[in-house]
Amino acid sequence: MKKRLFEIRNLTKNFPSGKEQVRALTDVSFDIYEGETLGLVGESGCGKSTLGKCLIGLTPPTSGSIRYEGKEVSLLRGKDLRAFRSQTSLIFQDPYSSLNPRMTAADIIGEPLAIQGASKQQREKRIEELLHLVGLSPSMGNRFPHEFSGGQRQRIGIARALAAGPRFVICDEPVSALDVSVQAQIINLLKKLQQEMGLTYLFIAHDLRIVKYLSNRVAVLYRGEIVECAEAEELYHSPLHPYTQALLSAIPIPDPQIEKKRRRIVLSGEIPSPFEILKGCPFASRCPKATAHCHEVKPLMREISPGHHAACHYASQPLIEQNVPVSVEKEEITGY
Ligand SMILES: Nc1ncnc2c1ncn2[C@@H]1O[C@H](COP(=O)(O)OP(=O)(O)O)[C@@H](O)[C@H]1O
Ligand SMILES: [Mg+2]
Repeated sequence: MKKRLFEIRNLTKNFPSGKEQVRALTDVSFDIYEGETLGLVGESGCGKSTLGKCLIGLTPPTSGSIRYEGKEVSLLRGKDLRAFRSQTSLIFQDPYSSLNPRMTAADIIGEPLAIQGASKQQREKRIEELLHLVGLSPSMGNRFPHEFSGGQRQRIGIARALAAGPRFVICDEPVSALDVSVQAQIINLLKKLQQEMGLTYLFIAHDLRIVKYLSNRVAVLYRGEIVECAEAEELYHSPLHPYTQALLSAIPIPDPQIEKKRRRIVLSGEIPSPFEILKGCPFASRCPKATAHCHEVKPLMREISPGHHAACHYASQPLIEQNVPVSVEKEEITGY
């Protein structure tokens, strides 16, 4: 039996903006199991970082429930809250802006330890271990962020995220700001660290290509709502939601024979305004399959096959049809 580390139910997050509300997350429900990597994918602005921040208590949800090991996160106090904080951690997207330029690498990595009250001696020993763990030499501890390459800076960010000995780490687009040539190194490092330390990851990316290398399961977020969640293999081979299908159709296939036959689903239409309260499916305005029903009635997440959830009225029917507008033109390959 897989153990649930997080249980998220009907999580909604609105940010007040003047007289209106930005609807960053609406009714999001899912679980995160101990030891897994859950990939979280969606376009820029769809609510990925907000979801991550809500999970580890950096921003309070507007409504809904987040349980960590069965306990409601918003109700944690004292010892329990301190334990939660040291067991959960975040690796930022941008290693350029997330490291204090006036602190040395050692001080940056040691900061969480200092907050925990570790002695100078304990800190120094642990900083050396951490530098080694992320593939940097101990002598680099005295240097400042600008003296490192982008990949090395992200290694410092990772060392800091691991300093307090977390069990759960959110990797928020950890390679998006890096050169393609170093992305794979950082992904491999994260994979190695997970295996060695038994970490649970929420791995956020805007692209299904990147999460494929690490994720056991993948959740697809669209305009603040999860539209599909499944085992990674299942999601890549049998996507049920038209949005997931469109995302997958944009990924070039390395085999030229298959690549020739790839049909790209090109979406038209607009993403609904972030202020709007949606009546129907969030994807209806861009969905090649949408009917009047989809604009009127919100599809609930349903378990279509074991472990495979999708929020689409027509998810149990074949979704790619002959009349779907497609093009076969090649997209420029970025990433892998
Ligand atoms: N602190 C904030 N105040 C107001 N709006 C915010 C804030 N943080 C995020 N948002 C809005 O919430 C939505 C989701 O943002 P975000 O979670 O950063 O998306 P992503 O990480 O997927 O790019 C966006 O419309 C964004 O503008
Ligand atoms: Mg983000």
